[in-house]
Amino acid sequence: MSEVVRLERHGDIAAIVVDNPPVNALGQAVRQGLSERLAEAVGDDAIHAILILGADRTFIAGADIREFGKPPQPPSLPDVIVEMDASPKPIIAALHGTALGGGFEVALGCHYRVALADAKVGLPEVKLGILPGAGGTQRTPRLIGAAKALQMILSGDFVAADKALELGLIDQVSGAKTPMEAGLAFARQVVDGAYPLRRVRDLEDEILSDRGKTEVFDEARAKLQKTARGLFSPHKIVDAIQAAIELPFDDGITRERELFRECLDSPQRAGLIHAFFVERQVGKVPGLKGAARRPLMSAGVVGGGTMGAGIAVSMLLSGLTVMMIERDEESLARGLATVDKILDASVKRGKLTEDSKAAVMAESFAGSVEYGALSDVEIVVEAVFEDMEVKKAVFAELDAVLKPGAILATNTSYLDVNALAAGTSRPEDVIGLHFFSPAHVMKLLEIVVGDQTAPEVVATGFALAKRLGKIGVRAGVCDGFIGNRILATYRKQIDYMVEDGASPYEVDEAIRAFGFPMGPFQVSDLAGVDIGWMTRRRLDATRDPRERYVEVADRLYEAGRMGQKSGAGWYLYSDGDRRGAKDPVVENIVIEERRKKGIEAKALSPEQIQRRYLAAMINEAAKVLEEGIALRPLDIDVTLLYGYGFPRWRGGPMKYADMVGLDQILADIRGYAEEDAFAWQPAKLLVDLVERGENFESLNQSA
Ligand code: 3HC
Ligand code: NAI
Repeated sequence: MSEVVRLERHGDIAAIVVDNPPVNALGQAVRQGLSERLAEAVGDDAIHAILILGADRTFIAGADIREFGKPPQPPSLPDVIVEMDASPKPIIAALHGTALGGGFEVALGCHYRVALADAKVGLPEVKLGILPGAGGTQRTPRLIGAAKALQMILSGDFVAADKALELGLIDQVSGAKTPMEAGLAFARQVVDGAYPLRRVRDLEDEILSDRGKTEVFDEARAKLQKTARGLFSPHKIVDAIQAAIELPFDDGITRERELFRECLDSPQRAGLIHAFFVERQVGKVPGLKGAARRPLMSAGVVGGGTMGAGIAVSMLLSGLTVMMIERDEESLARGLATVDKILDASVKRGKLTEDSKAAVMAESFAGSVEYGALSDVEIVVEAVFEDMEVKKAVFAELDAVLKPGAILATNTSYLDVNALAAGTSRPEDVIGLHFFSPAHVMKLLEIVVGDQTAPEVVATGFALAKRLGKIGVRAGVCDGFIGNRILATYRKQIDYMVEDGASPYEVDEAIRAFGFPMGPFQVSDLAGVDIGWMTRRRLDATRDPRERYVEVADRLYEAGRMGQKSGAGWYLYSDGDRRGAKDPVVENIVIEERRKKGIEAKALSPEQIQRRYLAAMINEAAKVLEEGIALRPLDIDVTLLYGYGFPRWRGGPMKYADMVGLDQILADIRGYAEEDAFAWQPAKLLVDLVERGENFESLNQSA
């Protein structure tokens, strides 16, 4: 039987090895194994020092996140660490890979910490909606003081070994090749008396000067008002670290435990942990297992506008060579200059050195107005105007010059990928790669699979996403794919709500209060009121006569209020103020439009606004699932989280719906349908799930 924790004897040193792939997480068996092996080593007179280390690629990466939300199984991690603390024999942690969360707390419960040079330590619990709950908030300040502990635990950032040494989080960085070698050498010195036994719980020097002062905590709380809006656990982290400074150690631990429980019980923990797992599952696409990937070294981008330039930058920064094609020399010069400008900004932000930028521009990037320049590339992403005829002409040119096996991708937002594929002699090589703006920043990439797209082309799309540091989501072909299709539906509801009685400012405030970074009208002002106008005109020909249509946004467009770029849209932007002020002119336009239709304004509470917005989103998402445009609810969660600002701590719209209860969502939809049956046709899938008493989670699966 393979043991998840084993004890190896090296003379008078006992090495306790945690071997629980893939990341040595501290599940129940590991905690029990640690406790038992520790007792064995402590009870053995021949053992003079104890080493704790991880097998394979890493030390312990933390608690087993899959256990959260389930009934706790003893022994608890804090109890195991109490046993370590009580050990009369020195315990040394030998760190490699990542020592995170509960893993780093185990290391803090040891008397010494030695690390390989490429090791990293960290307390990233905040990213999961919790706090370090096994002494991390109490021991860290005792090593580095309150201010640095706040910084480390509130950010959740990893700290590299050399920096950890400088801070005092660890005792030595070893040049050894393995943690066993590093740990044994250090343990030998400890046994030989080079280091006195030192328990972190007993250290006071770093916190003495913080005691009795509240400034550092007041400051942290004030900062959180801006940076952690709506979040729960960061505030609890400040409370826990303050307890470390003000209370005796054991009382501090008790306080930490209470605060940890509160976090564990919060819905934010469930949302954030869901987000953690789905972003790892999203790339494991059913039906794609074993599909080969085509090699990617060089790429082409057709169109050097907003998107083409951003896509080129993203590719260049990932080490691909890029050839940009534009329709004439003037447009090409503009496209090349845009890329140059974005790279300059990367240099300014310290993401790229001046030299590497120069090298990229000289060696990896070129432009042409001749399609022949693409004859050697492995993939081309087309980002020309959103016009089927223009795109078809581009695809015909690409079909004529690309080498066999090259991938033809389109960045279209809405157009039919199958129709584009049909115009080529190689529809199996055609795919949609829908980037989001700004393309060199936004993490989401919708990978749009046409009827004939070959699996290896899809697999290569996912490989490209990974290489670009993006998260690929598989989507099927329809107007708007996953994200824009769902957006179009919930976006309409906000116009309806304004016509019904809410002001645009109340809508924005309610949506921000839900956790979105911006309100939909602020987004409209940022993107340009003209963009929405063009979208509505595109849909004029196919709009169902039963669909409600609100003219308010058209009135803004006609008044030249294009948003931030024209100084006025839904908000007024005077003197370059990008936050914008409420504008009575807009409120009057709204009143006038209501008057024309004889609508009597009814007030809508923030909760009513949020419920209607979310119900529209979830209902359309269920239709997207039902039609197979998204294969799994998790694909929708990831799309909305990474492309549309859905608050991560709510897990995504499908997770949110599960937490609220699908029966309630359906009841809301049926209630709204009494007023507007056309807009609120419940998704069959949603009705079925409610009837079966199941949730969206039950439909999640990965390859
Ligand atoms: N529990 C359970 N599973 C975990 C896990 C954890 N703590 N950490 C990672 N995994 C799983 C992943 O889900 C993935 O599973 P899969 O192969 O089935 O998809 C597998 O391990 C490998 O993970 P990654 O794909 O993320 O591998 P990487 O090499 O890219 O990254 C890592 C490794 C840096 C360790 C990253 O997984 C990570 O950041 N993990 C979370 C670390 C963390 O948050 N720890 C704190 C936990 S909370 C805690 O400790 C509470 C304590 O205070 C009481
Ligand atoms: P843009 O107008 O900024 O750029 C289009 C570029 O294509 C222009 O530089 C133009 O000169 C060039 N072009 C036009 N016809 C060409 C041809 N035949 N050959 C070569 N170059 C040609 O447009 P933008 O915003 O970059 O959009 C491009 C595509 O990306 C569209 O399909 C759009 O729907 C899609 N998209 C846009 C997003 C956005 O937020 N702007 C987001 C995601 C996708």
